[in-house]
Amino acid sequence: MKFGIFGDIHANLEALSTVLDLMKQEKVDQIFCLGDIVGYNANPAECIELLRKQEVLCISGNHDRFTSGEVDAVIRAETRQVIEYTRRALSDDQMDFIASLPEERSWQDIFLFVHGSPRHKDEYINSLQVARSNLNLLRREKPYVAICFYGHTHLPYVISSKEIITDIHYTKTIELDKKFTYLINTGSVGQPRDQCPLASCAIFDIDQHNITYYRLKYDITTTQKKIIDNGLDPKLASRLEKGR
Ligand SMILES: [Fe+2]
Repeated sequence: MKFGIFGDIHANLEALSTVLDLMKQEKVDQIFCLGDIVGYNANPAECIELLRKQEVLCISGNHDRFTSGEVDAVIRAETRQVIEYTRRALSDDQMDFIASLPEERSWQDIFLFVHGSPRHKDEYINSLQVARSNLNLLRREKPYVAICFYGHTHLPYVISSKEIITDIHYTKTIELDKKFTYLINTGSVGQPRDQCPLASCAIFDIDQHNITYYRLKYDITTTQKKIIDNGLDPKLASRLEKGR
């Protein structure tokens, strides 16, 4: 059985379409999205419709929650502008869809899907210390979880007490060790931040217990043009080609 897993799409239709084409080609059995469907880029409605059409099991990210009502007071001006743009772009039905997303999902209690971290939906796993304390929390409170897939940082990482793999700028397969608990970030579909502009996603093979990361070229120029044409901050366009 194969899971397609990705997150942080951020309304990037060109990147999402490329990733979904790959999932179809690789005949995955179920697709999971780790949140942040909207925000930053210009096609939130179209991305929601694609995910619904393909019956992707989604959870909410902070940008989805910002859009459906819960806005952080310390949010940056350009982010606030995109939230307002996104609210105007979504139908009531699409707004209801993102408002009703769960904060986490699991598959048979063995695989957990969260946006930030197992400890908190908005926590960034951005240091070894945070990663370790979340691995400890999983072992202590959810010892049946083998892998927790997460997003939020936009950085593809494979973390366990055995190893930490961060060099995932190209398509590669990583064999996992069943003796260890893992935190796995599949990177960002629509706004990668690991200095690599390629869309990031992964396929987890349950039987082989390995994960294959895919870094995919997509039509960045079209995505950038839509950001500019819709009056969003040009910095959101330029950062896409730098992958940061
Ligand atoms: Fe995000």
